[in-house]
Amino acid sequence: MNTKIILDESRIPKQWYNIIPDLPGPLEPVISPRTKRLATPDEMLQIFPMPLIEQEMSSQRWIDIPDEIREIYKLWRPTPLFRAHRLEKVLGTPARLYYKYEGGSPAGSHKSNTAIPQAYYNKLAGTKRIATETGAGQWGTSMAFACQIFGLECTVYMVKVSFDQKPYRKSMMQLWGAEVLASPSDRTNAGRAALARDPDNNGSLGMAISEAVEDAAGRNDTCYALGSVLNHVCLHQTIIGLEAKEQMAIAGDYPDVVIACHGGGSNFAGIGFPFVADKANGKDVRILAMEPTSCPTLTKGVYAFDYGDTAQMAPIAKMYTLGHDFMPPGIHAGGLRYHGASPLVSQLVHAGVVEARAVPQNACFEAAIQFARNEGIIPAPESSHAIRGAIDEALIARDEGKEKVILFNVSGHGHVDMTAYDAYFGGRLEDYEYPNAAIELSLAHLPKISF
Ligand SMILES: Cc1ncc(COP(=O)(O)O)c(C=O)c1O
Repeated sequence: MNTKIILDESRIPKQWYNIIPDLPGPLEPVISPRTKRLATPDEMLQIFPMPLIEQEMSSQRWIDIPDEIREIYKLWRPTPLFRAHRLEKVLGTPARLYYKYEGGSPAGSHKSNTAIPQAYYNKLAGTKRIATETGAGQWGTSMAFACQIFGLECTVYMVKVSFDQKPYRKSMMQLWGAEVLASPSDRTNAGRAALARDPDNNGSLGMAISEAVEDAAGRNDTCYALGSVLNHVCLHQTIIGLEAKEQMAIAGDYPDVVIACHGGGSNFAGIGFPFVADKANGKDVRILAMEPTSCPTLTKGVYAFDYGDTAQMAPIAKMYTLGHDFMPPGIHAGGLRYHGASPLVSQLVHAGVVEARAVPQNACFEAAIQFARNEGIIPAPESSHAIRGAIDEALIARDEGKEKVILFNVSGHGHVDMTAYDAYFGGRLEDYEYPNAAIELSLAHLPKISF
């Protein structure tokens, strides 16, 4: 059997899959951080363009992908599906492992799948400039690239710990024409207040979001863009799972388990949601989200309404959360450090439709290295969580002597994350379990919602 299953460009899906009509319950509302009541479209319009607000709430199961977006997707899509022959062999497992590889996009991860449509719809709506945040830098580079393609200006608030750890990500964003600021910055009220409290503040995704939202809300020509969590982001990412389903059919297989890492939920939704649809129609398939023990949103958080950001400016959503003032440790998988989770993924976890598991970072680097030494690809530290999950499932299959089909998503490459690998090889990576007491402290500050 082939190692790579490649689709022709003509097979790039023509529609994204919207899971909202197939959720196990009604879509939870979005709440205004100002009034604590249902957010109005006018409030959302301050920071998002209309076409994306419509997608955010759409009850249409299939949403057309405009031809202009499909043309740009052709730069890296369809992405290959690999059969991990060599990894299977070294694991001595009867399981068949397949992985979808999203690291071939210009910016190196799945984030470009939504950056391009977000820039496209902003351009269509007359936006001139985008303000956004980035954790590890993958989203910022994708958005910088997308803004470059559509002639939009772009300002990226980059979490300070990553700004220091990943200087080349900053260079990539600058190469694609973006302005990059370490967050907290002195550009916004939220940033200045954080710096006044703690001048050595490492930053967090929640803080960087506050800065970008404040920036966008303060200028008529600017909209805000988020690289994960929101429904329209998950929608755009379903292109991964839709392609994977076609490729699995070509391979003559169907997964028993689908695995992805989970930060805000977008690559997990991307590969997982099209299979959730099958599960709702009776297919026996497990869908597993892998998160770090240092930021265990789905496994230790509560399912409640919370702010999307630290400074309480972003909309309030019902989701698994560790509390909006959760301050994550500076672990290397920077893209998995968000206090919240996609409301759609959260609803599915809460309903027991999808599963979640937390893993410590050293075990993930071990998996990433085993993967790289056999499959060749150096994965992003975030993606290594999915690889850990897939290898663990393959080892269980070996111990049980069972054939099992495992599909996982390698969401990005790690070429710009070599400081993290260096730290691993130098024995400087610590496993960290976020303390329950600190989570409880943060959860005491959840907003009181009345609607
Ligand atoms: C390569 C990669 N994978 C995964 C993630 C996690 O994000 P999400 O959960 O939205 O897919 C990130 C976030 O920056 C990332 O860069």
